[in-house]
Parts: sequence; C-alpha cells; structure tokens
Amino acid sequence: MNYDPEDEIIVTVGASQAIDVTLRTIIKPGEEVLLPGPVYPGYEPLIKLAGGVPVHIDTRDNDFKMTAQLIKENITDKTKCVILPYPSNPTGVTLTEDELEEIAQLLKDQPIFILADEIYSELTYNQPHVSIASFEEIREQTIVIQGVSKSHSMTGFRIGYLLADRSIRKHILKVHQYNVSCPTSISQYAALQALTVGENDSEIMCQSYAKRRDFVLKRLKQMGLDVVEPDGAFYVFPKLKVSDHTSFDLGLRLVDEAGLALVPGDAFSEYGQGYMRLSYAYNMEVLEEGLNRLEDFLSKQ
Ligand SMILES: Cc1ncc(COP(=O)(O)O)c(C=O)c1O
Repeated sequence: MNYDPEDEIIVTVGASQAIDVTLRTIIKPGEEVLLPGPVYPGYEPLIKLAGGVPVHIDTRDNDFKMTAQLIKENITDKTKCVILPYPSNPTGVTLTEDELEEIAQLLKDQPIFILADEIYSELTYNQPHVSIASFEEIREQTIVIQGVSKSHSMTGFRIGYLLADRSIRKHILKVHQYNVSCPTSISQYAALQALTVGENDSEIMCQSYAKRRDFVLKRLKQMGLDVVEPDGAFYVFPKLKVSDHTSFDLGLRLVDEAGLALVPGDAFSEYGQGYMRLSYAYNMEVLEEGLNRLEDFLSKQ
C-alpha cells in the first residue's frame, strides 16, 4: 500500500487512540457500526462514546470470520462503518485475500467506512497478511489501524498510527490535534528505532509464536477441546464445556483452583460466551505448566 507521509498518516497514542479519533470523526449519533462477535472489547465503548450504535454480528458458525454475506444481511440505511479486526483478538483467525475482495466489492461505492484494525498483521502464520486497503476501489473509505504494540511488543510506549486517504485523514487530524496534540516525542523516537533498526524483529517473534501456537493447539486437541485454528496474533479461543454458569465464573474458578489466568470469552461480547481466550505470548515453560494445570483442572470436572 502507498500512503503519503505528509498527509495520509497520523501517529497516535497506541492503536487505541487511532480507533477513537477515527470513530469520533466518522460517526454521527444513531449511526450503526457493524463488528464481528466475539471481538476485542475496545471498540464498543468508543462507538457509544461517539454516539453510535454497535451491532455485533454472530460469527461463531463461520470460524469467527466476518464475511461479505454476513455484512450484507446486517447493512441498514444507518450503517456507517464496518470494523474488520483481522488477525483477530481473541480468536486469532484472519481473512484470506478472496474473502477480503468479496467484502471490498460489496462495500465499494457505498457510503460506509471500513475501519481495518490490522495491529496483528506482522504476526500471521499460514499466509502473508493482506490489507483490505490494498483493494484500490475502497482505499478512500478505509482507515487502517496499526502500531508497534504487538509487532514489537512495545505496548507501554503507546505508539500506534493510522493510514487513511487524505480526504478523510484531514478531518481525523482535527479530532486528534485537539485531543492529544501528539504522542510523546520520546516514544515516537523509540518507535522510529523499532521500524528502522528493528524492522525484521517481528519475523523472529512470529517464528517463535508459530511454534508456541502449534504446541498449544496440539495440547488443547489432546484434551479433546473444540478449537478453531488461529492464523495469526497470539491467541487461541477454545470452547470450554464446563458446568459453570458463565465463562466469567469459570475464569474465576480457574484462577482460584488452578492458578491459571485465561480471559473469559464473555468479555468479547455475548458471542464469546462458553469460550476462553488463551494467550501464548509466554515462553514454552510457562505455557507447558499452564496447559498441565488446565488439563488437571478439566480432568476433575
Ligand atoms: C485488536 C486490537 N486493537 C487495538 C489494541 C490496542 O492497542 P494499543 O495498545 O496499541 O492501544 C489491541 C490491544 O490488545 C487489540 O488487541
């Protein structure tokens, strides 16, 4: 993709601020934002703060993928934006080039923006990442969210950025400037080092995450758990059929009884109920111990 550094990029305080300023720029009160469910919980409050209405689309029967068909079924005359957060937190799945093209063909020439949160793009395993913004026909209506939090494990530096056609970027800039002026210069210099000197660091991390992913998947399958294979990010989202009332209840029991921290699926919208998110951004020893504890816990249920 090509974006002009002069007037098509904004450096933000983490990807979070890029999402916030984008939504506040494009959403008018009452307008709807379509997003897949289960999904990263950061979008819903920001949509509401902008006066919008979040519309979660159930992707459970579709390997957690938002498809052109699902979007089509949910578009109304109030739809203003579709959020495509792939590779996904919490499921790790991503969309193929063909799937993205179908969405691009559906949304082109419609008065609908696409917020493509591609913060995990450097961490894909089965196929290289394809950005929806690479389809020229929808470039003008797409805002790509990026950052160094995941690619370079620099979450604490709080540096993200957005890529957008100059026609929309000039409006987002107004919200951004009066919101934070700019992210701290110290962190910007750190991110600059990451993106120049450490340009390939994410490849090394990616190889190591791929090994951990394979290990975690193998163990979860051995435990007989139902799990969709992740293509990217560093999460798996197994279904845990335990008699607890909610995933949240199960999460509390896992902490208390097994000393294990998994994020309850219901944190990722109602469609995450019954699932747990497991992060494999840990070393192999910790993962092995964690999975042993999970296996032990499950065998006692
Ligand atoms: C999908 C997604 N988008 C955005 C963020 C926020 O990133 P940042 O820490 O750069 O604000 C996260 C963090 O977990 C995330 O998973």
